[in-house]
Amino acid sequence: MKLFDVYPLYNVDPVKAEDCYVWDKEGKEYLDLYGGHAVISIGHGHPHYVNKLKSQLDNIGFYSNAVHNSLQKELADKLGKLSGCDEYELFLCSSGAEANENALKLASFHNGKHRVVAFTNGFHGRTSAAVAATDNKAIIAPINAQQEVTILPMGNLSAVEAELKKNDVCAVIIEPIQGVGGLDEAETEFFQGLEQLCKANNTCLILDEVQSGFGRSGKFFGFQHHGINPDIISMAKGMGNGFPIGGILIAPHIKSKYGLLGTTFGGNHLACAACIAVLDVLEKENLIDKAALTGNYFMQKAQEIPGVKMLKGRGLMLGIEFDYEVGELRKQLIYEKRMFTGGAKNKNVLRILPPLTIQTTEIDKFIEAVKEIVSITN
Ligand SMILES: Cc1ncc(COP(=O)(O)O)c(C=O)c1O
Repeated sequence: MKLFDVYPLYNVDPVKAEDCYVWDKEGKEYLDLYGGHAVISIGHGHPHYVNKLKSQLDNIGFYSNAVHNSLQKELADKLGKLSGCDEYELFLCSSGAEANENALKLASFHNGKHRVVAFTNGFHGRTSAAVAATDNKAIIAPINAQQEVTILPMGNLSAVEAELKKNDVCAVIIEPIQGVGGLDEAETEFFQGLEQLCKANNTCLILDEVQSGFGRSGKFFGFQHHGINPDIISMAKGMGNGFPIGGILIAPHIKSKYGLLGTTFGGNHLACAACIAVLDVLEKENLIDKAALTGNYFMQKAQEIPGVKMLKGRGLMLGIEFDYEVGELRKQLIYEKRMFTGGAKNKNVLRILPPLTIQTTEIDKFIEAVKEIVSITN
């Protein structure tokens, strides 16, 4: 059987990984500055994570949400404590798109409205409501286009106000730092203005932390750089360090009701064990503060690269913007220097999303490699 061909692939087949390194079939070593798309938070194959998953599998891997699962409660308690969002309630699912789909649906259940406001260059996943709120026509099928979504430029509060005043907007959804779009970030004033406008107009403010959450930005959540309290927070990628798990945090004024949301796989025993292990390691190894420090180091060192137009992002969710497309540079980094990096919708941006455990010596290796390529090519 052939695979449905939707991914343009690099010619690398990883078979083994440890911390910030990946090895292919031939035993070639690669430095991972991509984290499998911001997924690897505590490092590949962290021993605590591996042991937790193995012993969980020895006991029970899965049972349904029709019965109690004390691991969900343990996860919620640890997450509440470490994130500082203890007053929120947790609903677990299995991916980022599913988290946003549930967030949008819950907002609509809560206030009875149906239109969504999202922002230029935003990305929220590929399920029905989430993809309709994603600013990329190429991935919106006719069946998704029936959703009513208004895309606005980031930073324009009066445009948001004009839409919310129409009284049909159930949710405003925004990433604290745009991932796929290319690391753009609105000002604190804009985030705080959104919070006020949403409150005043009975609209839910959804912060899409699928990529920025779980410490990647140097705080547990990216919105915590702006002193706001969203109504709903969506999470996924770094949550399971590779195990598929997502979730939403729901502010207490949004009430639950039996049957409102549901999923077969969300919050299963193995997924919870993976996320609990991630939370344990984030706390024990102080990886969130470390991400902030290593990110600052990266920002300083990256100024040495010739031709850099702009450095973007926070913590270890970073982008280097050049005034040319970085496709070739990424290829050279993989095939010549054996380093994984990410691309963006903004084709001039090289994305850096390493495991939060990355060391400054590894950053040095990367900066030297880019400097070498850039100085030969230009
Ligand atoms: C901000 C953001 N939201 C949602 C998603 C979708 O997540 P998933 O691919 O797990 O469905 C992504 C994935 O890249 C993302 O970056």
